[in-house]
Amino acid sequence: MADRVKVGILLSGRGSNFEAIAEYKRKDPTRAYDIGLVVSNVPEARGLVLARRFGIPTWTQSHKGMDRTDFDALIDAELRRHGIEVVALAGYMRLLSPEFTEKWSGRVLNIHPSLLPAYKGLDTHNRAILGGDEYAGCSIHIVTAELDDGPVVAQKKVKILPRDTAETLAERVLREEHKLYPEALDQFCRALLEARG
Ligand code: GRF
Repeated sequence: MADRVKVGILLSGRGSNFEAIAEYKRKDPTRAYDIGLVVSNVPEARGLVLARRFGIPTWTQSHKGMDRTDFDALIDAELRRHGIEVVALAGYMRLLSPEFTEKWSGRVLNIHPSLLPAYKGLDTHNRAILGGDEYAGCSIHIVTAELDDGPVVAQKKVKILPRDTAETLAERVLREEHKLYPEALDQFCRALLEARG
């Protein structure tokens, strides 16, 4: 039995959460996961450049003009080809097909920049500020067919300051995302390994 869980990352852009996950592993190789593949639906995504720098295999193809189910079947095939067991969405800006979420049920994590169940979807920081909230934050949750839904496995609050704009708040939340996601992924994978015995 392998003593690490093979994780696949799906991303569409900057890739700073992926980088945090990869760095966390690089600094401590005893972490319960190995990153086996980085997938992107955006061939020019910065996250892919970072992945190549880390020496991690990548797969990319634009989803444009393709049916969602067909595109996700391509991703599914690549993940399986690389022996991926758990998927971590890290700024993957596309809704997954129900076929994909069903196949990978309980094995896909996502990071969302709000205190779920508040503010699913986009523009989360602006909405928290306009809502007069005391706290914003980020959540790690298990992915289901519904957008930004599914059980929350970890969450971190960030205080909203009087002069905050969506940008200043996003910066502080992102710093917490970079701590929360690697830790939550490590714990999730460790629990999987323990369940396997
Ligand atoms: C993060 O804010 C994450 O919470 C959201 O998309 C953003 C991705 O940023 N899901 P990055 O690509 O990881 O830098």
